[in-house]
Amino acid sequence: LFFLSLMLLAAYVLGSIPFAVVTSKLFGLEDPRRYGSGNPGATNVLRSGNKGAAVLTLVGDCLKGWLAVWLASKLGFTPLEAACAGLFALLGHIFSVFLRFKGGKGVATALGVMIGVDVQLAVLCALVWLTVAFVTRYSSAAALAAAAAAPISGLMFLGPHPIVVVLLIMAGLLFWRHAANIARLSAGTEGKIGGGKKADA
Ligand code: G3P
Repeated sequence: LFFLSLMLLAAYVLGSIPFAVVTSKLFGLEDPRRYGSGNPGATNVLRSGNKGAAVLTLVGDCLKGWLAVWLASKLGFTPLEAACAGLFALLGHIFSVFLRFKGGKGVATALGVMIGVDVQLAVLCALVWLTVAFVTRYSSAAALAAAAAAPISGLMFLGPHPIVVVLLIMAGLLFWRHAANIARLSAGTEGKIGGGKKADA
């Protein structure tokens, strides 16, 4: 139990690395917490107009989720424990120890976790995201649809495995973090993908 706790703590710290803030600094851009939706995530970094920084944020935030799951399984933890490592990386992203326990909404990190848990599951959810994003141009609507799809497709690919509960918790966290987006979507004031800095101000 000691090693499991230590591993989960390490996953939390890894997940805490805020790539939106780090890449923005690296590219000499404004802090993403100060414009658009104020969210330190790839979608909001894209509102700065710098696609490279947005892609790097997406890749970094995704990679840390995947790495947490992959490292845990390499260290000999069970698939369920590895999925929990992913959940802790997601918690790190949302309640970052480096951002005074504030953080992002968890979409990219959740994708990385799913890649680590089951690639088929990740591909299906990524397809849901891409389809909804293409049709609506709302990153948040795409994220909500993909989050809802995750536990359902988890059940499809893994059967009634406890990992599905982990996926359900992750989806719940994502929905909760998108509360402001849901309100903006229903009010018709949500910013579209790449819509610029004032999108949801
Ligand atoms: O990845 C987060 C996305 O779903 C919404 O981001 O900046 O539009 O609130 P944002």
